Amino acid sequence: MIDLSGEELCLKLLSAVGKAFDAKRMVKVKSVHISGISYQNIGDAGLEWIEELSRTAKFKVRATVNPAGMDIERWREMGIDEEFYEKQMRILNALKRMGAKLEMSCTPYYFERVKIGDRVAWAESNAVIYANSVIGVRTNRESGITAIASAVTGLTPEYGMHLDENRVADLKVKLELKREGDAAIAGCLIGELECKVPYIVTRKLRESEMKAMGAAMAATGGKAMFHVEKQTPEWDCYKIPEETVEIGEEIEELRRERYPVEKPELIAIGCPHCYAGEIIKIAEFAKKGFKIPVWVFTCRRLLKNDVIARAKDLIEKGGGKVFCDTCMVVSPATEMFESVMVDSGKALTYLPKLRGVKAYFGSLEECMKVAISGKV
Ligand code: F3S
Repeated sequence: MIDLSGEELCLKLLSAVGKAFDAKRMVKVKSVHISGISYQNIGDAGLEWIEELSRTAKFKVRATVNPAGMDIERWREMGIDEEFYEKQMRILNALKRMGAKLEMSCTPYYFERVKIGDRVAWAESNAVIYANSVIGVRTNRESGITAIASAVTGLTPEYGMHLDENRVADLKVKLELKREGDAAIAGCLIGELECKVPYIVTRKLRESEMKAMGAAMAATGGKAMFHVEKQTPEWDCYKIPEETVEIGEEIEELRRERYPVEKPELIAIGCPHCYAGEIIKIAEFAKKGFKIPVWVFTCRRLLKNDVIARAKDLIEKGGGKVFCDTCMVVSPATEMFESVMVDSGKALTYLPKLRGVKAYFGSLEECMKVAISGKV
């Protein structure tokens, strides 16, 4: 591809990005998270680029990777063919050669030791918005390629979310959340608002609600940060905007619109990847048995925990499947189904666009009720 070494090429690429955004300097990053590693998304061109780079480049900082296109152990159960499997494994092996930790999870914030003020280069929109908003880490919304370049060089250009001025909220959003699942749908609506950083005023949010809301906001409107009054770490660090919008009834309206009107062929949970509490909750429902297939997506490291491993067995005994390393959006497996019910605003947004399937929404409880009864 190049006469330059892998590191020289990566530095050149980051310098060009920095120049385009008027960055004054490069800063060191503590961690990198690489997205865009599913063969489904990057194809042969992406595979060849990563393989070629891996011949001369090595990662200088800790780098984790996002979900791939399949569960690397149970890919056959997902209906993945041999060719896809082999090409996906070549991508993963090339990343591993460079030094990546093959976590294949989109929730690096659960296991990366990062803290407020740290600079990272993460490329997964839900992880980026969570890092900036909920932890106070500084990261731009990197692409897979710029994240790899940062892993190789240990650097990122200082612009965008690395600078205080871009972390200032520009619209106040008064938000009324009434029931389970509202946070994800509210995220879809907030994402569409014309602002860069929303300042949200609402009731006390659970961490899982911030996760779901941020993921949805990043999907519908490319947001990289939000503040929640008295709740997120930087909520009072900057000027608070005066212009205000209210979101209340719209949430219920959108929920009515997106609730299934037919029996979904699949219920998919885990966008972003499920955390322990969700898996345990799903296992409780699974005791009643599922009449509609339920696919749960999480990261493999979680299953090393005995309690979670038992919960996984219960889910599978009930007729569900717990897949690791992948998700319903980046795997072609979802295309086997015509319609999918999800509890995620992000999956609701991306499944029709990227996998060409109809997507319906319900809270986790609503999804489980439909799965158990087989009816909507
Ligand atoms: Fe994660 Fe896939 Fe959703 S990467 S945030 S589960 S689209």
